[in-house]
Amino acid sequence: MRDDAPSRTAAWVAAGRQLGMLLPDNVRLVEDHYGAAFSSPALASLIERQGLRAAANVPGIRSWILYMQVRTRVIDDALRAFVAGGGRQLVLLGAGYDCRPLRIPELAETSVFEVDHPATQGHKRSVLGTLGALSPSHYVTWDFEARPMEDLPEALEQAGLDATAPTFTIWEGVTMYLSEPAIDASLRAIRTWSAAGSRLAMTYFAKSRIVKPSLMTRAIKAVVAQIGEPWRFGWTPEELPAYLGERGFSLVSDLALADAARELLPRELAVHVGHPDRRFALSAAAESIAVAR
Ligand SMILES: C[S@@+](CC[C@H](N)C(=O)[O-])C[C@H]1O[C@@H](n2cnc3c(N)ncnc32)[C@H](O)[C@@H]1O
Repeated sequence: MRDDAPSRTAAWVAAGRQLGMLLPDNVRLVEDHYGAAFSSPALASLIERQGLRAAANVPGIRSWILYMQVRTRVIDDALRAFVAGGGRQLVLLGAGYDCRPLRIPELAETSVFEVDHPATQGHKRSVLGTLGALSPSHYVTWDFEARPMEDLPEALEQAGLDATAPTFTIWEGVTMYLSEPAIDASLRAIRTWSAAGSRLAMTYFAKSRIVKPSLMTRAIKAVVAQIGEPWRFGWTPEELPAYLGERGFSLVSDLALADAARELLPRELAVHVGHPDRRFALSAAAESIAVAR
């Protein structure tokens, strides 16, 4: 990403989350009252007043809103299960404008650590300050490509993270923007703060989305490259378990978000999520294993 500006893709996905407030209550999967403020406070207020309802029926926007609903919900569900099981630490790696600590009441007793590029995190804190939204998060700035990832666990500990307690790490919408060395170094860093019982929830692109994109995907790929946030990385679902295994994680589940949509949404809406190449994987910190170096 660009060094001198907050992430634009973070603003888009956050706006997509709040746009979900335009969906009828009986199909809405997630409530987010904050996301659009990071791109436009006027847009956020319009959504809250239920203006723009018609936008939720415009084909491209509808797909975007529904995709963000499903992606957010599968991660929220896994996080809620972790907290229900007694987990009390959350790391948002590449947090962007994720407002889970403000959105999810079950996190009241959880220590939350947000890591992101200084430009994005600075914008987030400034907008939340303007909104008067008091997030309990501990903030750490990091550039995943420019600063050694092996130093991040210590920085998190200095911020208060207990590396001997289970941690839920969310790596949502980030892996596709990183180089392979940064992916490798990030996983090894996450493993360092992932005590027994920890979970890693991440989204990723199947490699086919990067190397053989459809016409529509090619257009989106060109736009994100143009704004300085090119897609760079994906796995094939077949190679993911071994890749994670070599870095100390065992895959618990891996599913296409299009399949999750079929579970969560009425059929006539699920079809708009489409594309089996956008995926969600949940992993556990493998215990008593040698991590390949
Ligand atoms: C598409 S956004 C996703 C944000 C958030 N996780 C979400 O799903 O709403 C990608 C995030 O990765 C962060 N990011 C990308 N490259 C980065 C880098 N080299 N160092 C630090 N953060 C980076 C951006 O600042 C941005 O917040």
